[in-house]
Amino acid sequence: MPDEKRNPLKLLEASERLYQIKDLDALLERVLSEARSFVNADAGTLYMASGGHLYFSFVQNETLFRGETKDKYIPSGQSLPIDKGSIAGYVAKTGEALLIDDVYHIQSKVTFAFNPAYDRETSYRTKSILAVPLKTRDEEIVGVLQLINARNASGSTVAFSMQDRIFISEFARSAADAIERARLSREMVLRLVELAELRDPFETGRHAKRVGAFAVELYAAWSARRGVSPREVHKVSDVLRAAAILHDVGKVAVSDAILKKPHELSFDEKVQMRSHTWLGARLFRRTNSFWDYMAAEVCLNHHENWDGTGYPGHIPDIFAEKVYPGPGKKAAEIPLSARVVKIVDVYDALVSERAFKTEWRQEHAMRFLRYQAGKQFDPELLAIFLTMEDLLKAIAQKYAY
Ligand code: C2E
Ligand code: SIN
Ligand code: SIN
Ligand code: FE
Ligand code: FE
Repeated sequence: MPDEKRNPLKLLEASERLYQIKDLDALLERVLSEARSFVNADAGTLYMASGGHLYFSFVQNETLFRGETKDKYIPSGQSLPIDKGSIAGYVAKTGEALLIDDVYHIQSKVTFAFNPAYDRETSYRTKSILAVPLKTRDEEIVGVLQLINARNASGSTVAFSMQDRIFISEFARSAADAIERARLSREMVLRLVELAELRDPFETGRHAKRVGAFAVELYAAWSARRGVSPREVHKVSDVLRAAAILHDVGKVAVSDAILKKPHELSFDEKVQMRSHTWLGARLFRRTNSFWDYMAAEVCLNHHENWDGTGYPGHIPDIFAEKVYPGPGKKAAEIPLSARVVKIVDVYDALVSERAFKTEWRQEHAMRFLRYQAGKQFDPELLAIFLTMEDLLKAIAQKYAY
């Protein structure tokens, strides 16, 4: 009987799926989970290389965390030097894969040692390790993929095989290329955000990234409740993060006098401010990939209110020389992506400092949101959002600096 897991066709399919993911965080997480599932590894760590160090990007551990999300917001500051002293460091330094049957019985003549600190802290027992470099076609090492504790069909921990090493090394090569590409597109997005930041010092890149991360989490929780297929959730999450990051990019076209005004805006200024929605949308309406489509959707609709009192409303032509905002969109007329971003944007604006206001306490912000359920906000999404307080704090910490 062919091995259900270690099927080369599955590997190829998995590599191809990676190429469709544009968002870097989503991609890294996917690389780790595909590789783990392929060789039935209980746990794994993905390190990204930068400036002579390896940074923990994602840690997954079936036994310790079971679910997938709990591990996402580990403190991102922890790192290892790229040298021959540690397992991952050795792999990054030499570009060679390592296959270790039992980390507590490593031959004494090798240079690297297993660091048992994590096991001690968590009472997890690491045994077998397969660590491969994430090396691009240009031979650049962008990180290390480390898989831990292979399991056999009955769930006992076993060693990784030579076959596993070959498969995972091959997979790591496609993954490295996809990561390199995603890094480039992320840089493009961040450059756009920086451009917006130059104009509005209170709407920082950190704010944009938080809105991106919050939006993905809220959408994931909503999808879980609605029974949306994992395939669809993955597909949407990638593009939603980027679209949410870019929600206010149209502000680059709004005058400084308005953006930086330390007081409440006049009626006239508010009307001018509204243009940031369709000006942003215009940037993404020239092409029609799913990515551009969602970015335009979010830019255009993130200030619509559930009850129809938001802006800019139905617009006959967003490219018209003079745009005429129409009656507000209502409920399901507002795209789901924009209903999600609406909630997380207002939340983050409230708990952040702005040119015209100080930050609110989280409880205060949550109370305001609850009061606005069914008015500004989609009540179903808002009810889910209100259960996410701890996660919001964890994300805010990750993007605090
Ligand atoms: P933003 O700062 O990203 O705020 C996003 C949305 O969060 C706002 O959309 C509003 O719905 C909500 N929000 C932010 N701060 C507060 C607040 O103190 N109280 C309440 N109740 N809601 C708040 P909105 O109103 O359509 O504003 C869009 C953008 O216009 C804001 O983006 C900000 O850049 C600018 N803006 C809004 N009001 C003022 C203002 O009074 N003075 C200045 N200088 N800019 C403003
Ligand atoms: C992209 O999707 O192009 C990059 C967005 C991101 O990684 O945040
Ligand atoms: C919904 O179920 O709320 C509709 C989803 C969507 O608007 O795309
Ligand atoms: Fe906005
Ligand atoms: Fe905003």
